[in-house]
Amino acid sequence: MARITAGIATSHIPAVGAALDNGKTQEPYWAPVFAGYDWTRQFEEAEKPDVVILVYNDHASAFDMRVIPTFAIGCADRFNPADEGWGPRPVPVVEGHADLAWHIAQSCVLDEFDITVINEMDVDHGLTVPLSLMFGQVERWPVKVVPIAVNVVTYPPPTGNRCWAFGEAIARAVESFDEDLNVQIWGTGGMSHQLQGPRAGLINKEWDNRFLDRLSGTTDELRHMPHIEYLREAGSEGIELVMWLIMRGALGHSAEQLHRFYHVPASNTAVGHIVLRPNQE
Ligand code: DHB
Ligand code: FE
Repeated sequence: MARITAGIATSHIPAVGAALDNGKTQEPYWAPVFAGYDWTRQFEEAEKPDVVILVYNDHASAFDMRVIPTFAIGCADRFNPADEGWGPRPVPVVEGHADLAWHIAQSCVLDEFDITVINEMDVDHGLTVPLSLMFGQVERWPVKVVPIAVNVVTYPPPTGNRCWAFGEAIARAVESFDEDLNVQIWGTGGMSHQLQGPRAGLINKEWDNRFLDRLSGTTDELRHMPHIEYLREAGSEGIELVMWLIMRGALGHSAEQLHRFYHVPASNTAVGHIVLRPNQE
C-alpha cells in the first residue's frame, strides 16, 4: 500500500534556482539560504521517497488568462522545465507517476473533489526550485513527481479550509493505491512577499513564524484563516501559503516538526521551510 511518510514545505523563489544554476550558492548572500536545506538533503537521502506529490502554483507558464484551473493534477509521464524568459532551467526533465496520478484524480473526483486532469504541461520555478533545494544538482531527479497545480495567481484562489480538505482527500487516495510506495507531499510558495504595488518588498517575520508554529501539533486553526489576512499580513503573494495547507491536511490530525528554517532576505521573499512527520494515530 502507498503511504505518506512526510510533508515538506518551502518557498520557491526563482532567484534561488538561478543562484544554483549559476554556481553562486557559496556567495555570502546565498550561502545562509542553502545552509537551511542541508538537513533536508540528508533526510531525503535517508528516506528515499519513491514519489513526491508536489503542490505548487504555475506562474503564467503553463496556464494564462485563457485557462485558470483552481486545482489541477499532472497525469503525464514527463514534464519539461518551462521557459520563463531566460530559457528552461538546466535541470532534469521531471518524471511523472501516471498510474498514481490517475488514481488520485479518480479517487478525488469520486470523493467530490473535481480536479482538472492535465496531460501535457511544462513546470516552472514553483515546482523545479523546491526539487533543486531538496536534491541539489543531479543528472536525474531521484523521485517521480505528481504535480498538483493550484491557482493562487488570479482571484479567487481556493480557501485555506478547502485546501486542507483537498489534502485530506489526497491522503485517502494515496492510502487506497495498491502499490507499495513511499510518498511525500510538498507544499510550496510563500512566505510573506509582495512583488507589486506600493507595498512591494513587504516581509512579516512575526506573522510567518506564527504560521510555521501552527503547522505542527494538532491545531487546525490555519484552515480558518481568511484570504484578507494573508493579503494584509503576508502581502499579495503571501496567499501562496494556502498551498502549504494541502500538504498539512494530507498529514492527518497530528504532525511532528522535524526541521524548520526561516531566513530573510532572499530576493523579495521570506524563505520558510519546514519538514513534518505525520503522527500515527
Ligand atoms: C519571487 C518569489 C516567488 O514566489 C515568485 O513566484 C516569484 C518571485 C521573488 O522573491 O522574487
Ligand atoms: Fe511564487
